[in-house]
Amino acid sequence: MMRELIELGRSIRARDPARPSWGEVVFSYPGLHAVLWHRLAHRLWHWGFRGLGRFFSHLGRMLTGIEIHPGAKIGRRLFIDHGMGVVIGETAEIGDDVLIYHNVTLGGLSLKPGKRHPTVLDGAIIGAGAAVLGPITIGRGARVGAHSVAVDSVPDGVTVVGTPARCPPGQCEDERTVGYGIAASKPDPVGERLDAMETEIRRLRAELALRRAG
Ligand SMILES: CC(C)(COP(=O)(O)OP(=O)(O)OC[C@H]1O[C@@H](n2cnc3c(N)ncnc32)[C@H](O)[C@@H]1OP(=O)(O)O)[C@@H](O)C(=O)NCCC(=O)NCCS
Repeated sequence: MMRELIELGRSIRARDPARPSWGEVVFSYPGLHAVLWHRLAHRLWHWGFRGLGRFFSHLGRMLTGIEIHPGAKIGRRLFIDHGMGVVIGETAEIGDDVLIYHNVTLGGLSLKPGKRHPTVLDGAIIGAGAAVLGPITIGRGARVGAHSVAVDSVPDGVTVVGTPARCPPGQCEDERTVGYGIAASKPDPVGERLDAMETEIRRLRAELALRRAG
């Protein structure tokens, strides 16, 4: 536990731009406390003391505002910055050096037992308020933007934003365009005017045909 505290504390000090002192990190960082509570709860859960594991997870939640199911598998140096409102589900798996901000959900989409929560690989970043849902994989060093909802896997090193989360226009190689290099997901004002004119012409033609018939 002491080794974990030192390793995690060191990585928090290196990654937090507020450059906290050792004292601040050890006594005032809920993200660090939540991971330590989870280590205890996870061990108990796997030794078969599920009720006790749940209880320690609940204590951790009461004290930090971060809910980590005791069954979740968490790698080394997970930094949960700010923390409040984070929910990590039972079958979630998190690699090493992952950074998660407050109000993040690593949740499920199915009531079926079995793997139903995401896997977040080494070095990934999940922005504040993001929801990562279902048994998808967030690749190594990938980033999910703040307040995005990811329901599909994200390849290594790729950034996704929005709901549902996608690469920002022009940033993914396989992004399809609708001509003139305009990304399909970007507004196309010229196309919209042409569509409106086509609709108007169709309406005028129909009106003319009716007058001729009458
Ligand atoms: C997703 C993120 C990592 C992208 O950072 P980046 O690579 O520097 O990307 P950019 O800022 O250049 O943005 C690229 C495009 O995505 C858009 N974008 C960025 N973040 C977005 C988000 N969270 N939701 C929707 N669109 C977003 C930008 O507006 C920009 O669009 P444009 O090209 O049409 O102008 C970053 O914006 C983010 O959300 N980080 C999380 C930070 C966080 O949670 N901080 C909490 C601290 S307490």
